[in-house]
Amino acid sequence: MKLVFATNNLNKLKEVQEMLPKSIELLSLKDINCFEEIEETATTLEGNAKIKANHISENYNYNCFADDTGLEVDALYGEPGVYSARYAGEPANAENNMTKLLKNLENKTNRTAQFRTSICLNLNGEQFLFDGICKGDILTNRKGEKGFGYDPVFQPKGYQKSFAQMSSEAKNKISHRGLAIQKLVEFLKKTY
Ligand code: IMP
Repeated sequence: MKLVFATNNLNKLKEVQEMLPKSIELLSLKDINCFEEIEETATTLEGNAKIKANHISENYNYNCFADDTGLEVDALYGEPGVYSARYAGEPANAENNMTKLLKNLENKTNRTAQFRTSICLNLNGEQFLFDGICKGDILTNRKGEKGFGYDPVFQPKGYQKSFAQMSSEAKNKISHRGLAIQKLVEFLKKTY
């Protein structure tokens, strides 16, 4: 089955491709010649995932799924959440986002946080939602060079390494997106 993953982020595409069974052929937005920007105007992760998946279903004739992820920091009442990509303003910049986050947590003792991913799957006219959560702590300094986004400052619960110090394989097994994708894959395996 051909299945579109509504993303242009090659890091994410690679992560997901590694987890999917070979019977499912994953296509990117570029593969289906979708080059327009899909505006993420919702105020929830679920809402943005739906907007993206619906755009593909309505304008291209493919089964598809879309994801949206946010970093929810307890001491910041769930911020940056749905606004994680542009926390420090435009243009989106991971370094500036991490600097802002570390500054906002400077005087906070509670550094607990979670990454949360919401996935919306549009399959043969039906819609399904999946989510994945990875709990952890925000470090006081950046650690590691791998990954992307907030990886250098996020240490998953039960580990002494940041996401940026893990291989993508190790991260996939425990990450928010990995867990949400696992649920999606289990569902697709049962359905196909
Ligand atoms: P997206 O919805 O996957 O594009 O994620 C929104 C933003 O959350 C990204 O721009 C990153 O800043 C952050 N983010 C998402 N997933 C991860 C991750 O696995 N590690 C670190 N940051 C992430």
